[in-house]
Amino acid sequence: MMNKPVVLITGASRGIGAALAEKFASEGYAVALTARDMEKMQILAANLTKSYKAETLCVPADLGKVEDAERLANAVLKEWGKVDVLINNAGILHARPFLEISADELQEMLDVNIRAVFLLTQKVVPGMVERKDGTIINIASLGGKNGFKGGTGYSATKFALRGFAQSLMQELRKDNVRVVTVFPGSVDTRLISRNPDAPDPASMLQAVDVAHAVYAAVSVDARALMSEIDIRPLNPVKK
Ligand SMILES: NC(=O)c1ccc[n+]([C@@H]2O[C@H](COP(=O)([O-])OP(=O)(O)OC[C@H]3O[C@@H](n4cnc5c(N)ncnc54)[C@H](OP(=O)(O)O)[C@@H]3O)[C@@H](O)[C@H]2O)c1
Repeated sequence: MMNKPVVLITGASRGIGAALAEKFASEGYAVALTARDMEKMQILAANLTKSYKAETLCVPADLGKVEDAERLANAVLKEWGKVDVLINNAGILHARPFLEISADELQEMLDVNIRAVFLLTQKVVPGMVERKDGTIINIASLGGKNGFKGGTGYSATKFALRGFAQSLMQELRKDNVRVVTVFPGSVDTRLISRNPDAPDPASMLQAVDVAHAVYAAVSVDARALMSEIDIRPLNPVKK
């Protein structure tokens, strides 16, 4: 069994996931990274080892596939024996007018943004309940509380994530397992910057801001649960 606390971060090849990996490595966690792009993860993992002497494990997985969630959880549990913190961060945004979103794009968002979260969390929760300790973090979006133009598919998945998370929180708090859901506004990552009408980077959060909010929820006193966290830029510059 790994003697450090273990965090498993999905979507760890770039963006918010990469910032989370760095924050948890700097706090002494053993960091399991997963995404499809193995090369990017290995470069990040090597940097974490160099900068923080972090123990890292990279597991390539396509969370659009049902079987990959189980394979991923098994790989981490086999290597390190436990997951103390699971961060469901991987996500897909197809921001387009309602009539332009294809069935495949809708399915991809449903598969990665909600089905994979459900399935992966099912694999990790039994160990947490047994140890009476653990934290599940879900990275939702303010689009999971308020709809927006172009967000018919994405917002639907993030509202679903909130319903999942609120229900799970009610089930698991008696076992000392925290369920925390984070609702960021616009963050300067590829998810949003590849959209033609993305906000000015100066008006957006940085990935590290979300990582710090997540770490605050993990490190708060054992009796407390920050169940939902909204995070938005303080004073966004108007275009
Ligand atoms: N950026 C924002 O403005 C914003 C705002 C609110 C919430 N969020 C949420 O924050 C989370 C992270 O987004 P981000 O902004 O960091 O986006 P990003 O830079 O596009 O990163 C998304 C991550 O998800 C992974 N991913 C995508 N599809 C996957 C799949 N099928 N299987 C496995 N991994 C997959 C990607 O890795 P690979 O491509 O290597 O697989 C990548 O590491 C998402 O849940 C997003 O909805 C973002």
